[in-house]
Amino acid sequence: MNTSAPTTVLDNIGLLVTNDPSVGEGPLGMARDASVVFADGHVLSVGARGQIADERIDAEGCCVIPGFVDSHTHLVFAGDRADEFAARMAGQPYAAGGIRVSVAATRASSADELRRLAATRRVEARRAGITTVEIKSGYGLDVATEQRCLEVAATFSDEVTFLGAHVVPPEFEGRADDYVHLVCGPMLDAAAPHARWIDAFCEVGAFDEQQCRAVLEAGAAAGLGTRLHANQLGHGPGVQLAVELDCASADHCTYLTDSDIEALAGGSTVATFLPATDFSTRQPYPDARRVIDAGARVALATNCNPGSSYTTSMSFCIALAVRDMRMTPDEALLAATVGGAKALRRDDIGVLRPGANADMVLLDAPSYTHLVYRPGVPLIRSVIEHGALHRVS
Ligand code: NIG
Repeated sequence: MNTSAPTTVLDNIGLLVTNDPSVGEGPLGMARDASVVFADGHVLSVGARGQIADERIDAEGCCVIPGFVDSHTHLVFAGDRADEFAARMAGQPYAAGGIRVSVAATRASSADELRRLAATRRVEARRAGITTVEIKSGYGLDVATEQRCLEVAATFSDEVTFLGAHVVPPEFEGRADDYVHLVCGPMLDAAAPHARWIDAFCEVGAFDEQQCRAVLEAGAAAGLGTRLHANQLGHGPGVQLAVELDCASADHCTYLTDSDIEALAGGSTVATFLPATDFSTRQPYPDARRVIDAGARVALATNCNPGSSYTTSMSFCIALAVRDMRMTPDEALLAATVGGAKALRRDDIGVLRPGANADMVLLDAPSYTHLVYRPGVPLIRSVIEHGALHRVS
């Protein structure tokens, strides 16, 4: 951190959520009539209203929360699948095969076009209060296009995930093991320099346990952290595999048995729920209450993608988690901030304490409960991302 950088105070905060219990009240570390001083993108101090700095931003008594940490998105893609969505609302089931439609459009797009499309979505996500976003590849599925998508993703985030094992592409139809061989070999070689993580889709219609294990082990051997799409469309081995391999996160977790929950509670893998996906695919919502009560770590993420969840609204995910997954507003806010940080194995985001990233969301509301209480209302007034102010309304 540059100690001679100009300081800024976000002052006159009505209710501040820090997520640091040592700073304030309860698990959310709440403080009233507070201020936050930051410089060079990092928090310097959290204190009572009226701290002095070189510049001052007036929060006008509103509620301020840590920026949302969206630990699961697929922001780099081309094309549109609104027709598939409409058919689903008319009764068609969601199937992994739809991914191939986005693969065809993405393969046909240049890096500049993919960058332009992803930039629009990144701006949209920031306006929704998301200050850290994980971005996966997975709509290229050949060496050149996966590399292109990862390079584009890396221009928007340090949290880039190689998802070559999303589905088997058409040219490998009936030869899934050959495709896994490509993913674990030349594709991984091309991807690893641009990614921090490796992921796979463990599901009927995508990849089985053995194939996912091979992909994650190859990625780990190449120095990548591991995460897994698990138990989205039905019960299966994904969650147990993720815990066994100490993946940072098992994502979806829509269908969980008691032993899946026991495994999550006994390990350090975060159960990342993606309720906008269950909404958009008409799946049941997972019972987060059981998972939290068992002692497992949980996160909420948007899963922004063109097929199963085309939204950047973390507020919508929080509202669904409270309304339909039996989380409290406090738990849902924690899951969308510090929970996402844990799913990325980070402790410098999702919290507001000295040294953490200066990532904050100013709500046009006296309390974060309004995110649920006033569903669908645009409550994000401004976003401070790494110390830079972005006005939304
Ligand atoms: O996380 N489940 C796999 N991948 C995405 C869906 C991608 C798509 O349908 O295009 C997901 O839901």
